[in-house]
Amino acid sequence: MLRQIQETKNFLNSKTTTKPFAGIVLGTGLGNLSTEIKNKTAIPYSEIPNFPISTVEGHNGELIFGTLNNVPVVAMQGRFHYYEGYSLQECTFPIRVLKALGIKNLFLSNASGGVNDNFKIGDIMLITDHINLLPDNPLIGKNITELGPRFPDMSEPYDKTLRSQVINIASANNIKIQQGVYAALSGPTFETPAEYKYMKTIGADTVGMSTVPEVIVARHMNLPCMAISIITDLGIEGKIVEISHQEVQEVAKTAEPKMTLIIKELLTTIYTKN
Ligand code: HPA
Repeated sequence: MLRQIQETKNFLNSKTTTKPFAGIVLGTGLGNLSTEIKNKTAIPYSEIPNFPISTVEGHNGELIFGTLNNVPVVAMQGRFHYYEGYSLQECTFPIRVLKALGIKNLFLSNASGGVNDNFKIGDIMLITDHINLLPDNPLIGKNITELGPRFPDMSEPYDKTLRSQVINIASANNIKIQQGVYAALSGPTFETPAEYKYMKTIGADTVGMSTVPEVIVARHMNLPCMAISIITDLGIEGKIVEISHQEVQEVAKTAEPKMTLIIKELLTTIYTKN
């Protein structure tokens, strides 16, 4: 894997001079955040050596280098999911590459189903912790010591400082933000009412199909993470209605201005402190 990471890194460095300070994984419906990126170099995943190819509608599949609020960033427009049939090592390979490119922080976004009674459709939730219910872990297999330890600590998967900065930014801008635990399931089926109930029982606030593998790999490499989830539907007894991928994307889009503002402000806050 080290050889592939190096090969992909060399390829990307031959395409751009941007030295990204942060990596951003743009989830469902948030692809437009990338339109805010200036001095862009966009490289389709299909041209990047060793990258898998995204298959999901609404995930365009490009790596975008540029600046956001004058901070050098690299954004993944489109991510890889376990339900697409990739191994978790494949899904998380891009995160290995972003770290090799020198990012100091990783921001992620996703769409999820709310199981906390206080949540409403369209709410955004700062992820404070997660539960990995995927039937796999991206670190299974021989450990590569150069990348991180065999048994990585997970006591603070989502960086405390970044979280408190997000809370401050949200409150300064009158943005309501929930906080809670995200549980990752394989999908591609959405949950049954009994499964949503089970999620709530085990301590989840939202349920989704991504993010956790990327965060595990980022933490393996000691990369600080911040993730925000958009509640696109509710898995709350009495409020469960039929949903589709399209509806999930539509609701996620409505949260885009809030997400963009938070990510831009957070970048400025941490970049100037750096
Ligand atoms: N479950 C799983 N993934 C999701 C959901 C959901 O309810 N909503 C958006 N992504």
